[in-house]
Amino acid sequence: MAIILGLESSCDETAAAIVRSDRTILSHALAGQEDHHRAFGGVVPEIAARAHAELMTPLVETALADAGLTLNDVDAIAATAGPGLIGGVMVGLVTAKALAMASGKPLIAVNHLEGHALSPRLIDADLEFPYLLLLVSGGHCQLLRVNGVGDYKRLATTIDDAVGEAFDKTAKILGLGFPGGPAVERAAAIGNANNVPLPRPLKGADEPHFSFAGLKSAVLRAHETGQYRVEDIAASFQLAVIDCLHDRISYTLDRIDAPAALVVAGGVAANVPIREMLEKLAAQRSMRFVAPPLWLCTDNGVMIAWAGAERFGLGLTDGLDFVARPRWPLDPHAAPARGAGVKA
Ligand code: KG4
Ligand code: ZN
Repeated sequence: MAIILGLESSCDETAAAIVRSDRTILSHALAGQEDHHRAFGGVVPEIAARAHAELMTPLVETALADAGLTLNDVDAIAATAGPGLIGGVMVGLVTAKALAMASGKPLIAVNHLEGHALSPRLIDADLEFPYLLLLVSGGHCQLLRVNGVGDYKRLATTIDDAVGEAFDKTAKILGLGFPGGPAVERAAAIGNANNVPLPRPLKGADEPHFSFAGLKSAVLRAHETGQYRVEDIAASFQLAVIDCLHDRISYTLDRIDAPAALVVAGGVAANVPIREMLEKLAAQRSMRFVAPPLWLCTDNGVMIAWAGAERFGLGLTDGLDFVARPRWPLDPHAAPARGAGVKA
């Protein structure tokens, strides 16, 4: 049974966790940086990198102490090596390299998106490959067929903004604060979702992709009229997102040989109404629905340690010369969704 230490530092959470390959979480240390970034209304890369540098070593010490282990008891050290804010990624990766070098244990360079993508298998031992994954985070909105560790086929992606980005920008426009996703969800819970007419970008389009930029602009215009309550705009926005996700996923499901399970992962997977819609959609399609618990949806070290455990089990380790990657698509062969300016 392998014991893996996992480090995460690609955005604004610094985290270290220890997971065993039998799916036991031995420890889970995490420090958010909301207070560092709140005044700016978003994550400031340079501030994030400095905070990761201060927090990472103490968090590794905490993770080891909480698990009652020393570095010698660990079989491998995994760290997010991209994609993400490069300064932060480098802090975690360099720390992992130093620990690997000092202990003589192998390094595992984890794709942060693979951390999200495999996290449902940590909590559900019956979730087998292949599965259909909706990966929704601050930087991504993709529908992927997960064929195995390191083997992804991208079926759809956003042609402009990521879903989490749309939530964050909506929160900013509405003055709901930072981080935006949970704030919009809370406001939406007490709003009327039918009060504010908002568009459903790409709904009904004869292509599989997602789009959210037009929705965000419509939120801005609706807010500027001064006619609507903030809670009603939030609720109408969230419903529009849910409609779009439902329509776009259905489009793909109508055209593929659907795997047995529909899985959601990434920070936006913490949104309860989105989870409820996906659960219903899966039931209608006779698919199993798997979603990580809310704490495992947003960035954390456990998912990186678990992805490390999956890779370690297959003999996949990396050299200490592994270079951090600001961009690192899960499916490098996927064609651009549309023209230039599209995020991978
Ligand atoms: O996966 P994650 O923690 O970091 C990235 O890798 O991007 O995702 C963060 C994103 C943010 O955009 C945040 O606003 C969004 O996930 N998010 C939510 C919720 N919780 C986090 N969006 C909607 N509803 C939520 N409850
Ligand atoms: Zn993430």
